[in-house]
Amino acid sequence: MRLFPPLGCALALFPLAALAQQKQANYDESAIPPYVLPPLLQSEAGVQITSAAEWITTRRSEVLGLFEKHVFGKAPSNWGKVICETISVNTDALNGKAVRKLVRISLADYPEWQGIELMLHLPKNTAKPVPCFVGASFGGNEAVTSDNDLPLSTRWMRPGKGSGVVDNHSTEKSRGSEQERWQLELAVSEGFAVATYYCGDVEPDHPEGWKTGLRSFLSKEGAAKDWKDGEWGAIGAWAWGLSRIADFLASEPGVDAKKLAVIGHSRLGKTSLWAGAQDTRFGVVISNNSGEGGAALMRRNIGETTAIITKAFPHWFTKTYANYANNEAACPVDSHMLVALAAPRGVYIASAEEDRWADPKGEFLAGLHAQPVFTLFGKKGYGVTELPPVNTPIGEGIRYHIRTGSHDITRYDWEQYIRFARSQFGS
Ligand code: GCU
Repeated sequence: MRLFPPLGCALALFPLAALAQQKQANYDESAIPPYVLPPLLQSEAGVQITSAAEWITTRRSEVLGLFEKHVFGKAPSNWGKVICETISVNTDALNGKAVRKLVRISLADYPEWQGIELMLHLPKNTAKPVPCFVGASFGGNEAVTSDNDLPLSTRWMRPGKGSGVVDNHSTEKSRGSEQERWQLELAVSEGFAVATYYCGDVEPDHPEGWKTGLRSFLSKEGAAKDWKDGEWGAIGAWAWGLSRIADFLASEPGVDAKKLAVIGHSRLGKTSLWAGAQDTRFGVVISNNSGEGGAALMRRNIGETTAIITKAFPHWFTKTYANYANNEAACPVDSHMLVALAAPRGVYIASAEEDRWADPKGEFLAGLHAQPVFTLFGKKGYGVTELPPVNTPIGEGIRYHIRTGSHDITRYDWEQYIRFARSQFGS
């Protein structure tokens, strides 16, 4: 294994100062100070949780509340009526393999918010509604697909290598720049729909992004807001967007809304975990290379740490989370509890061998230590206690693989997710 992550892919999303931090971080297992994980199956009143019913009635909501309070913040409930309007339908998308719908999701009470431009790809000629992957993308819809007939997103974009973004906006070169990450043709050929939206439709991904994003529109003070402990951050807002897509899919005849798999890579994998924790309509939860603030245990001081992430990306989390920088032991949660919130639904955690920054072993361990909750529901977990060899998926209700290669979401990853979603949905 490499001692630090390769720079190629990371460069795309990472300023140089942050790359220096990646190099300087600890990658030595033996230098991780000892840690104790917060108890999963003990309620705040000290009662041991021994059944699925007790988990659901007592502990699950406690753990969810702890993540709201200490990590991601609580989403407000004042968004009101959701409007879904079909903008266009292309019945010949993806070389004739798919129907593509663009749907604008906006809020009746907040017309100044531009809304989400949802892109839905449906397999053609299916006899019945199909299961659907739901995820947020780093770039506009034009980046996700190989088709070149989409209008370019006009929203603010984070620049990145190969993204074609100039002056924080998409250009013709942005077309298809994320298509490898979204294996649309594979998914539709396997009988799955895929619903995506650009995360920046909800909030541009920079520390001041909330000022022009949904979070400011939903707050009374607007762009003058002073964020308080426990209030939501960008990850919470992006996850909210995924749930609005689930709202829309409930009335989409081509999709079986009882079979939704929420998926995300990296910061958007942190987002899919949090969306899946809050919204049980997502029957499968997929975390791809989500790392710190996602599946990786925060108490393992290796790769990215709480101190680094809360400094570089303060807007992703609730304000409180920064208090745990170099002070992880004081945090009442760790990521095994985030994974457990998905139980008894299927969870897939995936790492990449060279992605040392995201701490593959810490991602693996979160699934391992979430197991007791799945056991309460009679669900099997990994079936092993050691990190498996590369490219060897393990587990049933909680599944895991570590792929060769770097920080990315690849065709290999999608093949595993499709197989897993099929096994979970029985489709
Ligand atoms: C940075 C960040 C990670 C994040 C990643 C990404 O590397 O430090 O926490 O997961 O960007 O989203 O690509």
